[in-house]
Amino acid sequence: MDKVIIVNQLTRRFEETVAVDNLSLEVHAGEIFGVLGHNGAGKTTTVRLLNGVIEPTSGSMRVLGFDPQMDGPKLRARTGVLTETPSMDERLTAKDNLSIYADLYGVPRTEVSKRIHELLTEFDLADRAEERVGGYSKGMKQRLALARAFLHKPELLFLDEPTSGLDPIAAHHVNDLIQRIARRENHTVFLCTHNLVDAQKLCDRVAVLEHGRLVALGTPAELTRQYVRRMDVDIEVNEAQIESTLQVLRSLPRLVIGDPVQTNSDLTVTLSGHEAIPDLLEVLVQKNVRIYRIAAQEANLEQVYFALHGEKESV
Ligand SMILES: Nc1ncnc2c1ncn2[C@@H]1O[C@H](COP(=O)(O)OP(=O)(O)OP(=O)(O)O)[C@@H](O)[C@H]1O
Ligand SMILES: [Mg+2]
Repeated sequence: MDKVIIVNQLTRRFEETVAVDNLSLEVHAGEIFGVLGHNGAGKTTTVRLLNGVIEPTSGSMRVLGFDPQMDGPKLRARTGVLTETPSMDERLTAKDNLSIYADLYGVPRTEVSKRIHELLTEFDLADRAEERVGGYSKGMKQRLALARAFLHKPELLFLDEPTSGLDPIAAHHVNDLIQRIARRENHTVFLCTHNLVDAQKLCDRVAVLEHGRLVALGTPAELTRQYVRRMDVDIEVNEAQIESTLQVLRSLPRLVIGDPVQTNSDLTVTLSGHEAIPDLLEVLVQKNVRIYRIAAQEANLEQVYFALHGEKESV
């Protein structure tokens, strides 16, 4: 199936709050679809709606062809969910927690123990598998919750801030795993995250929510082209000319924004846009500056995010 999730004019209110506001979007098979947005933007509410945990106020959705409200059990057999605050039975061991879910998800009995061992190894918990989860650290609990979401090899994974609370190595590992699931196994991932660097690296497309509304949707490259006009450019000039070049750069407020930053013989300047590059080069050449290198830094989702969240003037 090409469209794994179809959301049409979905709205969810909580009394006065419109948590999800007339949201329409589609998620394609095999993609890593990122959802970004400030605290309270509606990310988790969207995940809960898509999983049939709560009802929409209005609008409709299809997930793997199912209506989450009507076909919850059928849907959940094929989806994995890492919720924002996953709960485990703290009195039981990691192994027993996973066994219970393996039963619930209908993992064939002959495969359960192999699968659990595989996942506990994958998430670096194998040597603590027989301990009660109550004694686990926050990151260990998060890794166990991730293992649980992957247990039945779901074709669609909802991950609500999967690297929250993880140390950098564990976070890196989880990101690798997410990519592998999507790229090699062609599964789909619906990923809510505040980590814009991860989103840039992992996501095929991202949606940005603001107060429940969709304010941007596209590939990271499309969004940066659309929303980021300013760009940072590194310029390497003859060392003897650094001071005079700085003076030139400071005299071009139409092209250069703010103060240039100097690192050894490299200068980094923020330009007002793409077209400012040839204009700047022309001026520098006229002033006989010897330029050895000029390179525009790639715009990123962080700049898009700030552009969309009220800092439109500065990006
Ligand atoms: N059960 C609930 N009852 C009342 N209000 C709720 C409920 N669930 C969510 N909301 C409200 O809906 C809005 C969206 O919340 P949601 O948890 O979806 O945001 P989020 O984007 O996941 O935020 P965060 O980044 O902090 O996780 C918030 O204003 C929140 O207070
Ligand atoms: Mg949330």
